[in-house]
Amino acid sequence: MNLTMIGTGYVGLVSGAGLADFGMNVICVDKEEQRIRKLLTGHIPFYEPGLEELVTRNVKNGRLTFTTDLRMAVKRSLVIFIAVGTPDNGRGETDLSQVKEVAGDLSQLIDDYKVVVMKSTVPVGTNRWIKEAIQKSLRKNISVDVVSNPEFLREGSAIEDFMRPNRVVLGSDNVNALAILKDIYRSLYLIETPFVLTNLETAELIKYASNAFLATKISFINEVANLCEKVGADVHQVAKAMGLDKRIGPKFLHPGPGFGGSCFPKDTAAFAHLGEATGSPLRIVESVISVNTEQRTKMIEKIETGLGSIAEKTIGVLGLSFKPNTDDVRESPALDIVRSLLEKGAEIKAYDPAGIEEFKRIFGDQKICYCRDAYSVAKGAHALVILTEWNEFRNLDLQKITTLLAQPVIFDLRNIYDPAKTAELGLTHIGVGRGA
Ligand SMILES: NC(=O)c1ccc[n+]([C@@H]2O[C@H](COP(=O)([O-])OP(=O)(O)OC[C@H]3O[C@@H](n4cnc5c(N)ncnc54)[C@H](O)[C@@H]3O)[C@@H](O)[C@H]2O)c1
Repeated sequence: MNLTMIGTGYVGLVSGAGLADFGMNVICVDKEEQRIRKLLTGHIPFYEPGLEELVTRNVKNGRLTFTTDLRMAVKRSLVIFIAVGTPDNGRGETDLSQVKEVAGDLSQLIDDYKVVVMKSTVPVGTNRWIKEAIQKSLRKNISVDVVSNPEFLREGSAIEDFMRPNRVVLGSDNVNALAILKDIYRSLYLIETPFVLTNLETAELIKYASNAFLATKISFINEVANLCEKVGADVHQVAKAMGLDKRIGPKFLHPGPGFGGSCFPKDTAAFAHLGEATGSPLRIVESVISVNTEQRTKMIEKIETGLGSIAEKTIGVLGLSFKPNTDDVRESPALDIVRSLLEKGAEIKAYDPAGIEEFKRIFGDQKICYCRDAYSVAKGAHALVILTEWNEFRNLDLQKITTLLAQPVIFDLRNIYDPAKTAELGLTHIGVGRGA
């Protein structure tokens, strides 16, 4: 079966390559010429473990191609996936301009039956609007079906998540369209992946409710961590014991500087906005968002209190991406924390295994000295701040770090080190929620 994937970002490229691996012929389309040029010459435009190999394999076997020519791709495909960006518009609502542009293009280009599949995260009602918008401009005898197929992959483990998802959600009013999608995903049927077949609105809502619930766990444990610091308790033991209860589960109970990334912040904001707009407020989600914002401020206060003052101090930052194994810095806690430290007069040295180039795009080189590894960051710094729990930060030679630092202080905002062990080295360890 021939498919088009519109958008070659984290979701579009992983899904396009994944579907090619499932045996489909996939034409990936992007409007950014430079991105397509890179892909045509074998360069992956962002960092995602295993993606280069997956793309190369499927390009070689002829099932994966790249183009900017949407007309040609649509003509050749029965099914057209949309995986363009749906960022926040700055007011907590979803900016649907990329989706609307694609819908406009498709309504001009479609000239026989197609199934349009929405992978982008879009507010409830968007898919129905798209179906009507495209259908309105088609000739009378042509029809289009729309399927909502929200994507749940996580950057950093995107391929595994796409190849072995916990579930596949398909929303549509049309059984024929659902049957075509089930056929596309038949490799997942074979490994007994649960499929949730539902209507458009339910599928759209499932995505937001899932992300909001995960974000709730994070904000919840961050508040508990802050309380632990006040009462002399250890949030790690609290989270561990909570997680052993199967009704709660251990995932997403790691305290830190708050959630970031291209999804949770904008999706929780859009979900809260939907609640408000429909007169059914989502008060828990609203609190989750404000707790998350406050958590970043609390981390800056923690550093300020720990150091006495920040002005003219050199602060070493380890980790810029919003989580390990990605170069994505969108809404990364590092953005707010570094910006605030700079405003307070700090000199910043920083290192991230993959995110430096993306960080530079936002901050430029100004005032930030980007280093080649963690030890270069530590050299001469008045404190080390761990912001992302990359594996290579988990096993640092702390003895060496202690001697390199001008002041032996580590703000371990991901709690990756044991305070008792760091204390043995004479390293002052300031974590999150470790009041015990
Ligand atoms: N990144 C994630 O981890 C993740 C996970 C699940 C769901 N999502 C959702 O998936 C969607 C895509 O996210 P992403 O992170 O891959 O976005 P992205 O910004 O990385 O990529 C979007 C791509 O779409 C292209 N594009 C925009 N308009 C286009 C057009 N008219 N024609 C062709 N290409 C066009 C852009 O050039 C870009 O390459 C969003 O709705 C997001 O919320 C993302």
